[in-house]
Amino acid sequence: MQSTRNKLIKLLAASKDDYISGQLLSEKLNISRSAIWKHMEKLKKDGYEIEGKSNQGYRMIRLPDKLSENTVQWGLNTQWIGKSIIHKTSTPSTQIIAHQAAQNDALHGTVVIADEQTSGRGRMSRQWHSTKQKGIWLSLVLRPNISPYLAPQLTLLTATVLADVIYSVTKIRPQIKWPNDILMHSKKTAGILTEMQAEQDQIQYVVIGMGINVNQAKNDFPDIIQTKATSLKIETNQTWDIVKLIQEILVTFEQSYDTYIKNGFPHIKNKWESYGFKIGKTIWVKTLQEEFKAIFSGIAEDGALLIKTMQGETKQLYSGEINW
Ligand code: BTN
Repeated sequence: MQSTRNKLIKLLAASKDDYISGQLLSEKLNISRSAIWKHMEKLKKDGYEIEGKSNQGYRMIRLPDKLSENTVQWGLNTQWIGKSIIHKTSTPSTQIIAHQAAQNDALHGTVVIADEQTSGRGRMSRQWHSTKQKGIWLSLVLRPNISPYLAPQLTLLTATVLADVIYSVTKIRPQIKWPNDILMHSKKTAGILTEMQAEQDQIQYVVIGMGINVNQAKNDFPDIIQTKATSLKIETNQTWDIVKLIQEILVTFEQSYDTYIKNGFPHIKNKWESYGFKIGKTIWVKTLQEEFKAIFSGIAEDGALLIKTMQGETKQLYSGEINW
């Protein structure tokens, strides 16, 4: 259930630059005009810039900088992504909230965001450090009408989206380390964790978790990862607006996903390879069973890692890690 305050913000946001009268607001929200006035005063105290004009009504000029459902939705130019947003100031993991939401019929495109995660999850049961208000900790619920075996393509698609957004805002060309680490100057800036609920031939839902290090300084990272991790701020010497970056990611994701559903994987494969880290170079491949050297040739049509072993044999790998 939405609170009256949230409904009020949405009405103001929807009327954009036009004034909306106190009378109309009180009718739509079914509360008195003095209650409307009290809400407006409280919103102003919380950093919302609202203009009130006698005989015309109210108009929202600006929302506060902090992360919330409303600040992300304000001016978000998408058709289906982010129409429903769940925001938590602190949560163990946005993945958990997203799974719960998906099991309770959350819409395709539902976004879960948090200021802080206390038990952020990474791939291979690793921990993901999610410092308060310093990064983007986001899980996206999708209900794609594709076969479950194609779901890894969504991870690769997400990696290209994050790389595109990072490149377009920072002008620094990131690289994607297979399968889905986003690197800047060979250090990890972002990671993706895809989890899926499916039957044999049908996906119920997919949760794509994205962790992006945005405004951390070096000492915000635990000692053991300081040499391996980086943030947009460390790389650019600039503090970034987290809400604007989230909006950029959602818009870019929606475009890329819609094209993928329409045209399939080829454009993602090409884009992924254009950002691919160590393509054509010798890498160490680590799977659950073995570790060996190989040449990284690229990715296959289905997103698998394509390698050439030192014996000249071409292989496809679906899980594991690469190192150099
Ligand atoms: C990895 O590189 O190992 C994947 C990291 C994924 C982290 C994100 S942050 C938002 C979402 N919630 C989590 O607990 N994990 C993902």
